[in-house]
Amino acid sequence: MACGFRRSIAYQLSRLLDLPPENLIKSISAVPISRKEEVADFQLSVDSLLGNNNDHSRPDIQVQATRLAEKLKCDTVVSEISTGQGTVNFKINRELLTKTVLQQVIKDGSKYGLNSELFSGLPQKKIVVEFSSPNVAKKFHVGHLRSTIIGNFIANLKEALGHQVTRINYLGDWGMQFGLLGTGFQLFGYEEKLQSNPLQHLFEVYVQVNKEAADNKNVAKSAHEFFQRLELGDMQALELWQKFRDLSIEEYVRIYKRLGVHFDEYSGESFYREKSQEVLKLLDSKGLLQKTIKGTAIVNLSGNGDPSSICTVMRSDGTSLYATRDLAAAIDRMDKYNFDTMIYVTDKGQKKHFQQVFQMLQIMGYDWAERCQHVPFGVVQGMKTRRGEVTFLEDVLNEIRSRMLQNMASIKTTKEVENPQETAERVGLAALIIQDFKGVLLSDYQFSWDRIFQSRGDTGVFLQYTHARLHSLEETFGCGYLNDFNTACLQEPQSVSILQHLLRFDEVLYRSSQDLQPRHIVSYLLTLRNAVIQVSAFQCWIHLLMELGFDFFKLRQ
Ligand code: ARG
Repeated sequence: MACGFRRSIAYQLSRLLDLPPENLIKSISAVPISRKEEVADFQLSVDSLLGNNNDHSRPDIQVQATRLAEKLKCDTVVSEISTGQGTVNFKINRELLTKTVLQQVIKDGSKYGLNSELFSGLPQKKIVVEFSSPNVAKKFHVGHLRSTIIGNFIANLKEALGHQVTRINYLGDWGMQFGLLGTGFQLFGYEEKLQSNPLQHLFEVYVQVNKEAADNKNVAKSAHEFFQRLELGDMQALELWQKFRDLSIEEYVRIYKRLGVHFDEYSGESFYREKSQEVLKLLDSKGLLQKTIKGTAIVNLSGNGDPSSICTVMRSDGTSLYATRDLAAAIDRMDKYNFDTMIYVTDKGQKKHFQQVFQMLQIMGYDWAERCQHVPFGVVQGMKTRRGEVTFLEDVLNEIRSRMLQNMASIKTTKEVENPQETAERVGLAALIIQDFKGVLLSDYQFSWDRIFQSRGDTGVFLQYTHARLHSLEETFGCGYLNDFNTACLQEPQSVSILQHLLRFDEVLYRSSQDLQPRHIVSYLLTLRNAVIQVSAFQCWIHLLMELGFDFFKLRQ
């Protein structure tokens, strides 16, 4: 929140530089506590003020910083002004710092940081976030899991910042797999199994019919025919398809709930069969569609026939493809939501796909294509459950729960809890999410159950543990002290460090909301944890702050 300190510094600067304070606020940042030698709380980067590149060593920058520092005056807010490398540094009056930060935390509670001057004046936007998007009857793999937690994080953060967010799950609910499923279900399906465990049963049927179709031409043919019937709108075939879809969604909703994830819309590729045909006509009318000798249709994006910039949008039988359906879906969402930004969260393997989709929208004349953004993430290797490869989201959740329960049982200091299953799941999920969010989203990483469940170090388990400890202190001692504290007791360096760290929370939120990387918030929370375990005076209320960090990851429900 920085508690208005940035604004106060900006006012003084604005008079001196004859610039509006709003333009100065973003050049003033809280000094990270990792830079121990700094006693200042805020710094003004002279470079960013002048809109220059970041060459702090340039002598003129230093001269300008010194000149500026000389002209500035201490006041009731700022008690010391100095210079650093290309910066002017400000130390806030200690008593004011303590009082203001604590009061702000108490007042704002889980909204601390969100009312910051960094966000004031930011227009409320309509944001569509499309994430998770598994394929019905196919594996729910680690990529879908990552998309789910990352998309959920982005949606939570944007919502917390006051934007209007629509969460869409775009299911893979169309294509040849339903031809196979239709045929497979007639051969090996059981109605009871479908009703009681649809995801599992459809997957089994799908695996079996795939094997069968490879050896038996008749099965393959009948699958083809079934899909043809679907494409032609045959009522009976569509009814079965609808049942598969509905039952799968019911199950998804139940499982997503365990993760604290929900969607405003369960959409899917099936919605865009007909609209894709309109897209093809539109492409054709604009002279962008080219027929090939094979009978398929392509869009040539570079104009010079370079094969890597060709996108196939129609099969030889006239049906649409993944990319065509994405074009139709994007146009439809624009009509429906009139979004300012649309974010797609998938693994980096789909980078080119989205580039091509956005480019095609652009050449079709949709200027809003530039409001579409793909957030790609890297591959996680080696996530296995005791049953083997991850096939269902539920497998991962159950594995997390059982491993964590085992860990809890093996640690002597574990307290008896009312609902060990639920506690194990919460703590385990925190472990998974923190591990996943620690690095740059685009990086691949090797997964290890042992590493994520370590109870010490930079793990979600340790974060949850610290939070629980602080919470229990508060339960023991009550919250009365919150209204009546003595600022003089919080002046030793470790306490000031925590106050300084709190000044930075809004910047961290701002950063994550700009580059959509959760790692800034994770590393903020880990630093907060490290700082707080050293200072007893803060322990009683700092859990509030951890909770609000957790909110973005849905580690608290
Ligand atoms: N169902 C797809 C898959 O599992 C992901 C969908 C991503 N979103 C999209 N609009 N194409 O690979």
